[in-house]
Amino acid sequence: NEGKLWGGRFAGGPSPELDALSRSTHFDWRLTPYDLAGSRAHANALHRAGLLSDADLAELRRGLDVLGERYAAGELHPDLSDEDVHGALERLLLEEVGPEVGGRLRAGRSRNDQIATLFKVFLRDHARVVAGQVLGLVDVLAGQAREHLEPEPTIMPGRTHLQHAQPVLLSHHLMAHAWPLLRDVDRLLDWDARVAADSPYGSGALAGQSLGLDPTGVAAELGFTGSTANSIDGTASRDFVAELAFVAAQVGVDVSRLAEEVILWATKEFGFVTLHDSWSTGSSIMPQKKNPDIAELARGKAGRVIGNLTGLMATLKALPLAYNRDLQEDKEPVFDSVDTLEVLLPAFTGMVATLVFDRERLAELAPQGFSLATDVAEWLVRQDVPFRVAHELAGACVRECEQQGIELHELGDDQLAAISPHLTPAVREVLTAEGSVASRDGRGGTAPVRVREQLAELTERAASY
Ligand code: ARG
Repeated sequence: NEGKLWGGRFAGGPSPELDALSRSTHFDWRLTPYDLAGSRAHANALHRAGLLSDADLAELRRGLDVLGERYAAGELHPDLSDEDVHGALERLLLEEVGPEVGGRLRAGRSRNDQIATLFKVFLRDHARVVAGQVLGLVDVLAGQAREHLEPEPTIMPGRTHLQHAQPVLLSHHLMAHAWPLLRDVDRLLDWDARVAADSPYGSGALAGQSLGLDPTGVAAELGFTGSTANSIDGTASRDFVAELAFVAAQVGVDVSRLAEEVILWATKEFGFVTLHDSWSTGSSIMPQKKNPDIAELARGKAGRVIGNLTGLMATLKALPLAYNRDLQEDKEPVFDSVDTLEVLLPAFTGMVATLVFDRERLAELAPQGFSLATDVAEWLVRQDVPFRVAHELAGACVRECEQQGIELHELGDDQLAAISPHLTPAVREVLTAEGSVASRDGRGGTAPVRVREQLAELTERAASY
């Protein structure tokens, strides 16, 4: 059991098959800088408790620094005999500072409180990166929204059930994708504050430590605001992993919904947007093709990050307290989720930033498909007609138009009058997409005046993080 952290009670070493199953260095080696930071903080705690001499502390710190430098230079590697990142780093530390000094570091800690702590620190770093990237996407959505408010606001067909519903400003639609992303940033920050309050170091294997160490000092050194109140909770809980995997999945879903629209909008049939050459791909056989691969990969990767969350929840379900080795399965899914988003978001943001919208086509389609029927009904309400009646009359106008193959604004005065005497020619004032959007001027509505305010609100919120 040379090199193992637990050899003493075993007469023989583990079988190669067990080693192969047990090994986690191929995915947890990236935690090295975090493990080393934890070890530095732990060495300081041992020193403060009088369990490490000044000289031993200095030597341990030197050894840990050397390992950190070798890792940064790409020169530090685990062996096949190493079970995990913790075991490998202890072996390497012993090689650097000798067994006498190196053998003192493990006192008062377990890999169980160690991994729970450094996993949190690692994920906090990545949550910050993802939050910054999501804000970057919000920025370009706000930029597109700003561009399409001047000189004249771009109007597009707003849809429900994918059918033409009511005209809306393109800026309004784009910002409808930005607000959920801002809430995702809020979720990441909320998550971070919760995680920061709970450093598990000091929990030991499950029952706490008996060496008079100071977990609060370790917590502060590692950037936490507090240490865990219950050592079993500290070592056995992984809700912090599942919660981050959820937020990552939600980001994936939010991005995927916009992706799906971009894919539709870029079709010949929609013709709403053109993708920039640098942010789209071609076909190996069809020379004419220009494909929205970034959007499609975004849609595909959303499924992947949802799968990571689902797999993780399945691992956690019904695990008895406290630590179980199943918990080693908590890392790859969430590593994959943050890695996936960190590659996806910059590409997706570049694609959105360079979308070119066909303003004329959007404007032309906006009033089509009888999308102004609600405006007719609401105009009638303003003429004191009860809404039930108004709805019927506007519906009758649509039926008439459908029969004649025309749009609402093309109904003649006599045709309107024949449907109802309430329908005077004055109704035409609302039968334009411009009139329709301008009338929706309550808070949150698509009227240009409100959308300009909304953009200011969004920009201010995005800048406040
Ligand atoms: N590699 C382990 C994990 O990721 C570290 C903790 C191992 N603890 C133990 N008692 N085997 O969960």
